[in-house]
Amino acid sequence: MSAPATLLAVRDLNVYLAESHILQGVSFDVRAGGITGLLGRNGVGKTTTLRGILGLVPRTGSVVLEGAETTKLAVHEIVRRGVAYVPEDRDVFAGLTVEENLRLAERAGAPLRYDLVYELFPELEQRAAQKAGTLSGGQQQMVALARALLNGDNRILLVDEPTKGLAPLVVRHVVEALRRAAEVATILLVEQNLSVAHSLVRDVIVLDQGRVSFIGDVDQLMGDAALARRHLGLAAAGSH
Ligand SMILES: Nc1ncnc2c1ncn2[C@@H]1O[C@H](COP(=O)(O)OP(=O)(O)OP(=O)(O)O)[C@@H](O)[C@H]1O
Ligand SMILES: [Mg+2]
Repeated sequence: MSAPATLLAVRDLNVYLAESHILQGVSFDVRAGGITGLLGRNGVGKTTTLRGILGLVPRTGSVVLEGAETTKLAVHEIVRRGVAYVPEDRDVFAGLTVEENLRLAERAGAPLRYDLVYELFPELEQRAAQKAGTLSGGQQQMVALARALLNGDNRILLVDEPTKGLAPLVVRHVVEALRRAAEVATILLVEQNLSVAHSLVRDVIVLDQGRVSFIGDVDQLMGDAALARRHLGLAAAGSH
């Protein structure tokens, strides 16, 4: 079997925010299919990398999606090419119902995966008429993931810390949903919970202070306690 093709190639991404050089030449590839993990300690630039891919922050360098350069495109054009973003704050429309939140995510011409979304998150179907602002954090995370999964022609999902602040049972549900989602989509996942990352991710990119410090296989990183500690800090010491 040949290696899966590169779906997204990030080259020499540089981001300055408030005159700080936040991303300092970040380069990595995301293979098509499955989940690639973007890891690293707090404040190293993980969220900024996702925002840089989408064009939500000014950046230099190159982001190539399926062979096409995207850095000159507007954010909405990058989204239309199939880059979906699930931000850390989930960003659901609190005053709208679950169903309205999903309808707003529909893209004209895209095949809609309501069957998949409601299979993964039956609660959302039961709560279709409920205002999203009255949902629990875990349920809001499900709405956010569902919106990204809905458009069947999305090429890659950028998912930022989906399990943060959730109860263990809800974490397990979100992990299962991500696992299923990765059967139909490519996911670039930022995850601070290392046991969650280890259970989901295949390829790993680690950032440290705005630069890539490790690229490789998740088992290589997590299987070597000293290596994991060096790249991920003390938090890595106890995981697995
Ligand atoms: N709008 C901004 N203006 C100035 N500095 C910023 C801005 N946004 C982020 N930063 C800084 O950029 C650095 C990287 O932030 P970023 O949010 O990308 O890190 P992160 O790896 O996602 O962190 P966390 O694990 O806390 O989510 C941090 O030092 C942060 O303080
Ligand atoms: Mg972040």
